[in-house]
Amino acid sequence: MSKIVAITSGKGGTGKSSICSELGFSLAKQGLRTLIIELDFGLRCLDIMLGVKDNVKYDLGHVLRGECDITKATTNVEIARNLFIVCAPEDPFAKVDAETIKNICSEMRKYYEYIIVDTSAGTNASVFDVVEQSDLILINTTPDPVCIRDARTMSDEFYKRGNQKQRLIINKVNPELFQADLVGDLDEVIDTVGVQLIGVIPDDDAVKIATSKGEPLPSSSLAFKAFDAISKRIQGEDVPLSFKVMLK
Ligand SMILES: Nc1ncnc2c1ncn2[C@@H]1O[C@H](COP(=O)(O)OP(=O)(O)OP(=O)(O)O)[C@@H](O)[C@H]1O
Ligand SMILES: [Mg+2]
Repeated sequence: MSKIVAITSGKGGTGKSSICSELGFSLAKQGLRTLIIELDFGLRCLDIMLGVKDNVKYDLGHVLRGECDITKATTNVEIARNLFIVCAPEDPFAKVDAETIKNICSEMRKYYEYIIVDTSAGTNASVFDVVEQSDLILINTTPDPVCIRDARTMSDEFYKRGNQKQRLIINKVNPELFQADLVGDLDEVIDTVGVQLIGVIPDDDAVKIATSKGEPLPSSSLAFKAFDAISKRIQGEDVPLSFKVMLK
């Protein structure tokens, strides 16, 4: 059974695309055929984050204009067996046709175990339509009050539209808090957003470096361990949320 996982946030810059690429690397490394579909129209970045910027010949824009099919618009991430990407259109004004994208996602279920959908921040109606029908919505926030409130707004809207399968990722958490296992300090974030936590990612320069170089995170980094745990929880594994356990 394939699973469509959408990553979204209320506020921009919370780390959605970094999470998509690192989750993609993590799932693919575990032998799972994974496709990332980038829906941030005109603001493509995953080609850089996944190290394929010189290999992308066709993208979602070509598919939406009827110039090629989705298979042709799929780029193989050479450094990661099992990982593939459909890049966003380069045109910031390309029309997001939610029906077409939903059809692409369901067609791709035959070929991939995980389809990860990266989105723009906020409530673009068409992107919302795609996300709300995912098997799992990962609401992403940082521990800042504005981000938290915006995450709540997004999550409430998905609940209103009937999607109950939401999980929260808190990104860019102070690494000292992370290492000290101070989960309690994050309880307020979880309560305010009102979504069950699936993972906490430390603020870690390794993320900036890896996504800039287009490489997976080094396995020694704190962030790698966080992504490894999240990717296992997505598969239903019972990985404790205690960071101390993860750091062993
Ligand atoms: N855990 C982290 N630790 C350190 N830096 C991070 C982390 N996660 C993301 N970043 C940095 O935050 C910035 C924004 O990340 P990213 O582009 O992934 O966010 P986004 O939510 O996709 O943004 P947008 O809303 O514009 O699409 C980047 O510089 C990235 O390297
Ligand atoms: Mg992004």
